[in-house]
Amino acid sequence: MAARSDDTTNAHRRAVTAMFDRIAARYDFLNDILSFGLHRIARRFFMKEIKLRPGQLVLDVCSGTGALSRRARARGAVVVELDASEVMLRHRKSMLTRRPDVTEDASAAGWAVVADAMALPFADSVFDAAMVGFAVRDVASPQQLFAEMGRVVKSGGNVGCIEFTQPPRTVSWLLRPYLRRVVPTVGGLVDRAAYSFLAESVTRVMSAEELADIMETAGLKVNTVKFCVGGIVAIHVATAP
Ligand SMILES: C[S@@+](CC[C@H](N)C(=O)[O-])C[C@H]1O[C@@H](n2cnc3c(N)ncnc32)[C@H](O)[C@@H]1O
Repeated sequence: MAARSDDTTNAHRRAVTAMFDRIAARYDFLNDILSFGLHRIARRFFMKEIKLRPGQLVLDVCSGTGALSRRARARGAVVVELDASEVMLRHRKSMLTRRPDVTEDASAAGWAVVADAMALPFADSVFDAAMVGFAVRDVASPQQLFAEMGRVVKSGGNVGCIEFTQPPRTVSWLLRPYLRRVVPTVGGLVDRAAYSFLAESVTRVMSAEELADIMETAGLKVNTVKFCVGGIVAIHVATAP
């Protein structure tokens, strides 16, 4: 039974990874276009809430092209990026590689890890904080994701999540046709199947309360739940047990 469930989890991850491999080259560009740049405001708000401090060792789980990692580094954190898609990681425009005092080799030498978020390849309590951006919808088990994040973060360290959420009814009324028609059409210029899937996944997101419950069931203590971008995006900050 357990082996079967592992097979399902692995098949899910492989399918999601293959999809992100296909869209990696245009992922950042389309985020800007499809969100009208609003994802940048949401990410800025998230960085304020997760309260990273200079010198902290931070894990960015499902880091993709590094949109959160870059912001964390700008705040002085030392970031390890982890993603199942090597192609997404290859497209990250790491701040490391832009700084004259840090070579390209340093980032290749271990700052980015290709691995499954369901089984983080780290010992317990090694990170000061961990974060996950817009990926809860993509993993096979959000509870396992948060349990793993809580495991690798030191007791009392912050575990942050930024994700789409169920918006207020008026916003939802405007958002649904946009997700059904515009996102698959514009995203379809890159990959219609991928952007149809991503748009559809936003229509069936959890509420912020459900997400908080899952984080708590995974052993975290949720301290902050905030909303931005008209209630479309929720930010959760919890502490590790
Ligand atoms: C929508 S992107 C978000 C990327 C980035 N966090 C951001 O904020 O832009 C989702 C990312 O999660 C990664 N991902 C999905 N399932 C994963 C898993 N089981 N383990 C590791 N990464 C995974 C995908 O490869 C993809 O890069």
